[in-house]
Amino acid sequence: MRIEPLTCSIGAELFNVNLAHAVHDDGLFASIRAALLKYRVLFLRGQDITSAEHVAFARRFGELEDHPVAGSDPEHPGLVRIYKDPSQPSPRYENVWHTDATWREAPPFGCVLRCRECPPVGGDTMWANMVLAYENLPAHVKEQIADLRARHSIEASFGAAMSIERRLALKAQYPDAEHPVVRTHPETGEKILFVNAFATHFTNYHTPQRVRFGQDANPGAGQLLAYLLSQAYLPEYQVRWRWTKNSVAIWDNRSTQHYAVMDYPPSVRQMDRATIVGNRPV
Ligand code: SIN
Repeated sequence: MRIEPLTCSIGAELFNVNLAHAVHDDGLFASIRAALLKYRVLFLRGQDITSAEHVAFARRFGELEDHPVAGSDPEHPGLVRIYKDPSQPSPRYENVWHTDATWREAPPFGCVLRCRECPPVGGDTMWANMVLAYENLPAHVKEQIADLRARHSIEASFGAAMSIERRLALKAQYPDAEHPVVRTHPETGEKILFVNAFATHFTNYHTPQRVRFGQDANPGAGQLLAYLLSQAYLPEYQVRWRWTKNSVAIWDNRSTQHYAVMDYPPSVRQMDRATIVGNRPV
């Protein structure tokens, strides 16, 4: 396997690898897993594998989970279909910086996304390194957020585009989660800035140091959250991948955010995503 970094901060392309082989080859899988921790998102082209092989490869990382809104392939549970075509109503919701499913108590470990069909141009996906985003924060901001926690809701982002009834039913099924604003990577020990589009507010902002009068909480907390969310937008932390049929991205969902660029209508874009169950952030 040859590894070529794609930027100075995140992402590498793997060459001479067939993911179907990594299902049975422990050494190859271990190398891919180690590269994932180092580069946070890995890319491969020419992966003409079956859906069963896609699922089997992702299962090497752990159990898979479905998505409550995007349906799964009925013959391959755990393979979520992110299929877009001109018949689908607007607004769409993929074009927002996010970490997958942080509205869960235990958000995903990561994903293996394969392109089945993509527009001739457009429909790229971008990822941002949230370890670097944390590292580069000014010292006083790191101090300010060290003990903060945030609420994450399925109502934010794609939930907000639904009818009131559907949104409330979804929230009843998936109640809000609360996570630390700075989480620790369970494998590398790195600190990660862990707020994204699903974060609605801080839950423990009200301390005498931060809030003299109740009135101080606004705009203080809101401005701080907006500032933290904006860190993923910095190009220095990003990589952008141009899809081709059968290309694959494997990402560490704990230490990254991503953004699916929605510049391609009326073209068709079909992606299969295997989402690996993760741990509760600490
Ligand atoms: C996602 O948000 O997980 C999907 C990314 C994509 O379709 O490019």
